[in-house]
Amino acid sequence: MILGLETSCDETAAAVVTGDGRVRSNVVSSQAALHADFGGVVPEIASRRHLELVAPVVREALTDADVALEEIELVAVTQGPGLIGALLVGLAAAKALAWGRGLPLAPVDHLHGHVASLFLQPEPLEPPFVCLLATGGHTLLLDVRERSGYRVVGTTLDDAAGEAFDKGARLLGLGYPGGAQIDRLAREGDSTAFAFPVARVPGLDFSFSGLKTALLYAVKELGADELERRRADLAASYQRAVVRALVERVEQAAAVPGAQRMAVVGGVAANSDLRASLPDAVFAPLDLCTDNAAMIASAARYVSPIACPAYLTLDAYAAA
Ligand code: KG4
Ligand code: ZN
Repeated sequence: MILGLETSCDETAAAVVTGDGRVRSNVVSSQAALHADFGGVVPEIASRRHLELVAPVVREALTDADVALEEIELVAVTQGPGLIGALLVGLAAAKALAWGRGLPLAPVDHLHGHVASLFLQPEPLEPPFVCLLATGGHTLLLDVRERSGYRVVGTTLDDAAGEAFDKGARLLGLGYPGGAQIDRLAREGDSTAFAFPVARVPGLDFSFSGLKTALLYAVKELGADELERRRADLAASYQRAVVRALVERVEQAAAVPGAQRMAVVGGVAANSDLRASLPDAVFAPLDLCTDNAAMIASAARYVSPIACPAYLTLDAYAAA
């Protein structure tokens, strides 16, 4: 029985997962509303809110799972990458929980956690596969040969795909977080209304900063009234361009002789246009795309646990 904690950004999350990958509980307390007024996550506010939420969220995860703290055998926690203050709250809480009961602790890399969202029941995916990992902070193509790790074969040269959605949403005057808002508004719009460029970069890398600039100019050119009228068309066209860039790369990676199955994980994997555009790929379940602790507990099964009390000196890391 594994208790997982995740506090790398603005979601305070705890989950109970069994060794064979069954999710007994998965509690996510989003701070999005708290940060919305600022148009993005304010690190200091996030840390303070994690501090308030972490104990109640852990308690709720145990209650939901109908599991007593005494039954937990391993504590798993996100060590990085993410906001350092936010990570430290989760790490300190995990250390305290594990140390108090003499349990081992498994430090988990957040990106490995996203990949491990594919290893949970009822349909765990078996490596090898090629994985697109698209979040607010990263856009990577991964060669996954085993459950314990991966090799990076492509990355973004500038913005992450989720960041492109968030910045695009901001330019369109939509709320934070932007990805889900664009996704929703795009359904009412015409994705062919505006021709946004898809950056061509060599190899399997990505680039999204030019696209964001193109949207900025389109918005400026339209003016306030026209923007109001064309907002859905802009959202749909912009989303189409981001999705097209991602799909092209995934298909390119899949075209390599002897290529394996394709999978997609991370917050952007929740995007309905992306899901519809890659019908043959395996997508993380919707509730496990955005940040959660079930994926962290899942990854912990493939990490060497640290015995009590050696993990007390463990530090968080902000960047991968
Ligand atoms: O994986 P995640 O929850 O956190 C990070 O590790 O960054 O990903 C968050 C990102 C945000 O940029 C958010 O806008 C994006 O995922 N996102 C979406 C959708 N839902 C969340 N992007 C596009 N369409 C969505 N439906
Ligand atoms: Zn994430």
